[in-house]
Amino acid sequence: MIYALISDIHANLPALEAVLADIGARSNITATYHLGDLVGYAPWPNETVNLIKSRGIAGVAGNYDSTVGTDYKHCGCRYEDPRQEELSHLSYAWTRQHVSLATKQFLSGLPFRIDLRPSGGHGAGPRVFLVHGTPTLNTLYWTEDRPDDFCLKMANLAGAKDGDVIAFGHTHIAWHRQIEGIHFVNTGSVGRPKDGDWRAGYVLLRVGTGTVDVENVRVTYDLERTAQGIIDSELPANFAEDLRTGGRAATHSAKRR
Ligand SMILES: [Fe+2]
Repeated sequence: MIYALISDIHANLPALEAVLADIGARSNITATYHLGDLVGYAPWPNETVNLIKSRGIAGVAGNYDSTVGTDYKHCGCRYEDPRQEELSHLSYAWTRQHVSLATKQFLSGLPFRIDLRPSGGHGAGPRVFLVHGTPTLNTLYWTEDRPDDFCLKMANLAGAKDGDVIAFGHTHIAWHRQIEGIHFVNTGSVGRPKDGDWRAGYVLLRVGTGTVDVENVRVTYDLERTAQGIIDSELPANFAEDLRTGGRAATHSAKRR
């Protein structure tokens, strides 16, 4: 079974289109799932949701999806500094203003978690759990430097055992660790990567009999179309710069302060 896992699209329609074209050009993909955060930071929340819907791509609720969907007071995002907080609030307000009722309903209806059984539910076998942040909250950041204890605690809460996979996004930086036979896979971000590489990122997860393989894929897309779309909207132009630098512009300016 080969799953394409796409996360944190964040209304970046050109990035999503490029990733879906890349997945579509591969003839051996079993299914594509999204891991949430369909909206926020870019000007195509409705178009992104419509494309996901039209392709029949199932997925889970990211913090952005569930906060927009439930009219929560903020997006549940973490801020490095006051300026980032201000920008984050602007993005959230813009997104809430511009989502259609149908988009909002779709976002609020997304499940928190999806469980897969690559070898079928009729017998024991590896399981794949899909969440946005962690199995407990979609706002909690699961970064690569989390200690083994944290990962195993989350695995225990999810019910994961040796040979199982927990896949998630939310941090916008891909990583893969294996602890006590359990695979922890952060799929990175399609529409707003933060690892210094501007290209859209997703994961191909291959699950066989006793084997798990994780391939990080990066795809070029029409970045300037997205940047121009941001500039032409009332979203802060900073978000265009974030995309051009693979998320490193905000980090650098925060460090300088
Ligand atoms: Fe996100």
